Amino acid sequence: RTLDDAGSLVGKTALVRVDFNVPMEGGRVTDDTRLRVALPTINKLREAGAKVALLAHFDRPKGQVVPSMSLKPLVQPLSELLGAPVRFAEDCVGGAAHAAIADLDAGGVVLLENVRFHAAEEANDAEFATSLSELADLYVNDAFSAAHRAHASTEGVAHKLPAYAGESMRRELEALDAALGDPSRPVIGIVGGAKVSTKLDLLKNLVGKLDRLAIGGGMANTFLFAQGVDIGGSLAERDMADTAREILAEAEAKGCEILLPIDVVVATEVKPGVETRTVLAREDIGADEKILDAGPLTVEKLIKALALSKTLIWNGPLGVFEVPPFDAATVKVAKAAADLAKSGALIAVGGGGDTVSALNHAGVVDDMTFVSTAGGAFLEWMEGKALPGVEALRA
Ligand code: 3PG
Repeated sequence: RTLDDAGSLVGKTALVRVDFNVPMEGGRVTDDTRLRVALPTINKLREAGAKVALLAHFDRPKGQVVPSMSLKPLVQPLSELLGAPVRFAEDCVGGAAHAAIADLDAGGVVLLENVRFHAAEEANDAEFATSLSELADLYVNDAFSAAHRAHASTEGVAHKLPAYAGESMRRELEALDAALGDPSRPVIGIVGGAKVSTKLDLLKNLVGKLDRLAIGGGMANTFLFAQGVDIGGSLAERDMADTAREILAEAEAKGCEILLPIDVVVATEVKPGVETRTVLAREDIGADEKILDAGPLTVEKLIKALALSKTLIWNGPLGVFEVPPFDAATVKVAKAAADLAKSGALIAVGGGGDTVSALNHAGVVDDMTFVSTAGGAFLEWMEGKALPGVEALRA
């Protein structure tokens, strides 16, 4: 159910779970993406005449009141983005929260203090969920990126009030469904990042769903090693070789073509401007050399594979993109994906972990069909797991 199913909201109070777990330095927000993502829902509710009580966690205070993890520093940037005042309540339940909400006019907004200051939040305590529910007439979950947590503010409270998906949650679920639920085929995945071990379930789920899967980044080294390639001094999980072979066998059985790097960029250390060599992955990597990026032949092959595809799901960079020139493959492939998405030829969805930074670095975030702001939740969704915060909205 979305906000369009909520009926008249005039004079009602909406308890809106947002993800304001934003990067902060010295009490200042350094990236306000997650604040901006919440604006459509907040504005829609305000325009409908509702009072808006924003509920969020910040960091991991483990049930303690940790002043440096207060949400108060978000009041000003949020108020600037909304172009309207935002009140602050020193607690997310009890007298302070009730009083702040009572003081609001229709269309007013209050930000409630960090819900994780209460241990009952992460315990998904029923009484705490009831206390949250007593603040409002309806519950709106707009925090897809926290939906993998079965907490009182993401799960428990959804069973105690009429519950709806907010605008950002709705967009996120629609995009993810277009990419893996019932995708236009052929569908290709690009999965990069350092380790196979953290993405095992994800890889196993994807090989059953995709037509092609390109593996890049450090985890490709483990696959090359598992195939008997001498990867020199490259980062790899050599003890995962059997698992990597199992994934390759499963992919073959399920008709998912695996694309591994054909050529790679190597250097003896990870340093900007360091001397590099581009070599064939299966031939001449020196004993002291590390694979740090995919090479031009691999990039060309990936771009051709993208052109053959109707849908792309991308998680993880292809190289050490933070250190130029090892960002080259990620940037080139991201630009090709974004160009295809812009022309309408490809549904291109990305997210999870440092994927957003990598796509940002490539300057393509606005041209992709959809880029998720979620980290862990995006990965769990790619693993095929049900997300408690989403399931609670369906119940
Ligand atoms: C995130 O930043 O991915 C979400 O806000 C979830 O945060 P958590 O990992 O602390 O639950």
